[in-house]
Amino acid sequence: MTKNTQVIYLKDYQVPVFIIETTDLDIRIGDEYTSVVARLKVSRNPASDADTSELVLQGGSGIKLQEVMMNGLILDDSDYDLEDAALSIYQCPETFELTTQCLIQPQLNTTLEGLYKSGGMYCTQCEAQGFRNITYYLDRPDALSIFTTRISADKERYPILLANGNPVEQGELDNGEHFAVWHDPFPKPAYLFAMVAGDLVRQDDVFTTMSGRKVDLQIFVEAHNSHKCDHALASLKRSMLWDEKVYGREYDLDLFMIVAVDDFNMGAMENKGLNIFNSDCVLADPATSSDAMFERIEGIVAHEYFHNWSGNRVTCRDWFQLSLKEGFTVYRDSQYTADTYSAAVKRIDDVTVLRTHQFAEDAGPMAHPIRPASYIEINNFYSVTVYEKGAEVVGMIHTLLGDELFRKGSDLYFDRHDGQAVTTDDFIAAMSDASGVDLNQFTRWYSQAGTPTLTVTDVYDAACHEYRLTVEQSTPATPECQLKQPFHLPLRMALLDVNGVQMPLTLKNVGLLPNKDVVLNITKASETFVFEGVTHEPVPSLLRGFCAPVKLDYGYTQAQLLFLASKDTDGFCRWEACQRLLIDAVAQAMLKPVGYQLELELVTMLRSSLVDETLDPAMVAKLVQLPSEAYLAENQSTVDVDLIHAGREAMRVAIAQALESQLLDCYQRNHDTGPFSQTGNAIGKRALKNTCLSYLNSLDDFNYQAIAQVQYDLQANMTDVGAALQILTGHKNSDISAPLLADFYQRWQHDSQVVCQWFAMQAGANLPGRLTHVKALLEHDAFDIRNPNKVRSLVGSFIRSAINFHCADGSGYEFVADMILRLDPINPMIAANLAKPLGRFKPHTIHRQELMQAQLHRLSQAKLSSDVYEVVSKALAAS
Ligand code: TRP
Ligand code: ZN
Repeated sequence: MTKNTQVIYLKDYQVPVFIIETTDLDIRIGDEYTSVVARLKVSRNPASDADTSELVLQGGSGIKLQEVMMNGLILDDSDYDLEDAALSIYQCPETFELTTQCLIQPQLNTTLEGLYKSGGMYCTQCEAQGFRNITYYLDRPDALSIFTTRISADKERYPILLANGNPVEQGELDNGEHFAVWHDPFPKPAYLFAMVAGDLVRQDDVFTTMSGRKVDLQIFVEAHNSHKCDHALASLKRSMLWDEKVYGREYDLDLFMIVAVDDFNMGAMENKGLNIFNSDCVLADPATSSDAMFERIEGIVAHEYFHNWSGNRVTCRDWFQLSLKEGFTVYRDSQYTADTYSAAVKRIDDVTVLRTHQFAEDAGPMAHPIRPASYIEINNFYSVTVYEKGAEVVGMIHTLLGDELFRKGSDLYFDRHDGQAVTTDDFIAAMSDASGVDLNQFTRWYSQAGTPTLTVTDVYDAACHEYRLTVEQSTPATPECQLKQPFHLPLRMALLDVNGVQMPLTLKNVGLLPNKDVVLNITKASETFVFEGVTHEPVPSLLRGFCAPVKLDYGYTQAQLLFLASKDTDGFCRWEACQRLLIDAVAQAMLKPVGYQLELELVTMLRSSLVDETLDPAMVAKLVQLPSEAYLAENQSTVDVDLIHAGREAMRVAIAQALESQLLDCYQRNHDTGPFSQTGNAIGKRALKNTCLSYLNSLDDFNYQAIAQVQYDLQANMTDVGAALQILTGHKNSDISAPLLADFYQRWQHDSQVVCQWFAMQAGANLPGRLTHVKALLEHDAFDIRNPNKVRSLVGSFIRSAINFHCADGSGYEFVADMILRLDPINPMIAANLAKPLGRFKPHTIHRQELMQAQLHRLSQAKLSSDVYEVVSKALAAS
């Protein structure tokens, strides 16, 4: 394999030897070269005791260094050393001014890290280590500096020039150029630097903070997207208000800007005062974006805004601390969505993502704790573990502390560390100091990877009215740690009586508990809790609200699950009981898919949800939906994707047959022909209706195809149009969907967001033999391998279609490996993301494992980026 495969360790952390107090950038955008002059006020860091006078600045291979000056004097070759990735200045005094002049070529930068061109605009992405591609710098998150940025460019093509902070000056230059100067008064690390130059239109709004300051809100987009900004602006204002109310945090600058960019590696970036968004994660209108996209956008806008405190005002000391800002901020945006919409539905969505994707990562070769101890390429650690499991860990702290103390803890954290670059230990210390709760053992969540299993057993002693609950925990070995020590975790639970009413709880040696819903502190490998005065045998409701990121193993009987599915007062547990029953039923169907018939009890359970008009329709949709193939796979020791697919499809048909009239009735009842509305209820009704329509179309019945066709033809909104088209695209007979897909493309070919949905629908259709079609789409005019959204919608969706990616002849693996090899020289971050699924061969049948490993071997023979190298080498090490 290849270069740059050095392992970086957390234990090697050292404070920077120098501090850059101020950073003055002068960026001149030219057609062939962009010139970057960086004037840095440098001084020795009093906190460093390093015995050296050498200043080492990082720099990418695309930079051409023109000149280095110290205190106004040009340095010659002997005063510094220039290597591929670093500029070392010898013999630095205590304080000095260092000026470098460099040339870069953003228009050739396809990695989308650093300064690059997306369409006709220049923009930046500096997290994690992109700034070093702009100029030589101390590119590490604990190097905080005050930035002033001057940008100049051709005025006609780049009328808008933006950077962090406040505008301080602008004006005209010769030969059609103009300039703007921006100053950010808040010290920040280079990863939060941003600038934009382009031809953009602006949507404005204002927000008055709780202390009465007026903040200008501006969204910049290309002119043809100006009608798609309202939702993001409304989401932003709601988020700002929420963070004031719930965390007591207000915005600090007078201006908050968002820019939409088409070519972007992730969802969005929290650059100080100038958030940059993947256009797909900010632009929305009901004709082109589904309800799910609206919800996703609101969550991302909130997430980036919340980073202003959890990430920017208090940032990370080093990249091993990434979850400090990401875990906390994901937790904050989840709380926001739960508060603003349906808490139970949001919880179900989050748990679904965690259990399907994070549990798989935690069981695979890239498993890592939320604070990794080492990495080769930090880009590979923007993971579901750091983000989603990180958020669960913060949520557990909230559960252990309770609302009031958690708020006290977050106040102490922000106040104590405002303006600093800190560690997850500092976060824990603030939470613990403010609350008095001992979190020492809890810190194991930061250093041990793997998903713990909680095995719960119980005994009811009818004679002495005692109920004994034994909780055992064990965590499988992961690459970085073989023997796990027990975790400290909260187990929220209740005991339900025969009517589903929560019993009062008296814990032996503790007494009567204030709540009928208790949080047990689990700290040992095995422990037993004894409840007294339990007059009847209870049904335990365990892991309420999914209070810990664990697998729960309790031997529920079918009767108990049916009871919980209709009676549990905890929304999550009620849904979970339904899911367990459905998982068991699919397992039955997998044994005998042909002519599979649903048990009567399950029919009754599903029917009672479908006909219950008192329930939130969004919740009903969740209750009746089958677990995904990916989650079903998560529940098998050996995964046979074809069997899972066949079993699940048989289940779908069986449900549709057994409940045909109720499904149709539910569809019609929830099919709203009135004016379009986006209330929670209207959104829930669309979700439920489309769930029903999908079931009905698993019956090969022309009438239901016709209903879907009518729904498509109505062109009411993208939720309904997209759902109808997706359903029809899932039919074996492509005669039905082909003309509609053509019509859809015809209508929306000028909207790249919709074209991506069009790619995703076709590549993700859960039908065998899709590869030929996907390969043909790669050649389509609208496909562009340099655009991550297009790659994700075509190749990413293909990978998610398990029967196709895991096709038994190995063609899916070979195709994905081909794509990785094509993409790696263009965009290593995106290439590495495609490689992760290939590395997860373990749970699959031997035959598939060998085919996957063969492709990994093939990849390992090529010259790879450090991104792909890390994923491939770790996967092969596990084989
Ligand atoms: N910090 C960003 C967020 O969580 C995401 C991010 C990290 C990112 N690295 C990136 C975005 C690279 C784009 C490209 O919101
Ligand atoms: Zn984030």
